[in-house]
Amino acid sequence: MSLADVTYLPESPAHDPEIDAINEEAFGPGRFARAAYKIREAGPHERALSFVATDNGVVIASVRMTRIAAGAGKALLLGPLAVRPAYKNLGIGRRLVALAMEAAKNTGWPAVVLVGDEPYYGPLGFRKIPYGQLSMPRPVDPDRLLAHEIIPGAVSALRGDLDHADALLKVAEPA
Ligand SMILES: CC(C)(COP(=O)(O)OP(=O)(O)OC[C@H]1O[C@@H](n2cnc3c(N)ncnc32)[C@H](O)[C@@H]1OP(=O)(O)O)[C@@H](O)C(=O)NCCC(=O)NCCS
Repeated sequence: MSLADVTYLPESPAHDPEIDAINEEAFGPGRFARAAYKIREAGPHERALSFVATDNGVVIASVRMTRIAAGAGKALLLGPLAVRPAYKNLGIGRRLVALAMEAAKNTGWPAVVLVGDEPYYGPLGFRKIPYGQLSMPRPVDPDRLLAHEIIPGAVSALRGDLDHADALLKVAEPA
């Protein structure tokens, strides 16, 4: 396999079964208990801002983006990001994050949030969100709650309960 064989594409519904298999392999059944999963199950993700890497037509890595909101702020939640074991450490994860960030910026999103390892995401522009600023629907290690600010001030506008943007809209709708 050469990196020249790897193609990056916006996600389509046809990729769903392969993406599910990659996430099962990377995160196991414990993924369903994670805070980020709880947010993502409250509504759809943004296919046009989500990307796959393929090798000869086979999906070998995926990143998804989901619209979220908290307080007066809105943002995208990045994840899951997963790369098939045989393709790790080739720069594919970083490339997928860069594509998703570029798509977010080009479509006017002010910030991108994720739950992940600061040593990996820090060099990609993500910083810790100040402790106590956001509440997730399930407990997360505050050192892993990170954001990349695209528009200045966007991260400080994210305050209180963070959830899928659709879930918060439903709460705000009159009965
Ligand atoms: C984490 C993951 C997405 C990285 O993708 P990748 O394509 O293998 O990574 P890249 O090639 O872009 O980057 C590799 C570099 O990141 C480092 N790295 C990988 N995972 C890391 C982590 N969790 N923390 C810190 N550094 C990490 C590697 O050591 C390597 O460093 P080097 O460039 O100095 O050698 C991939 O390993 C994976 O799918 N892991 C399982 C699922 C997961 O943990 N996803 C992240 C959820 S937050």
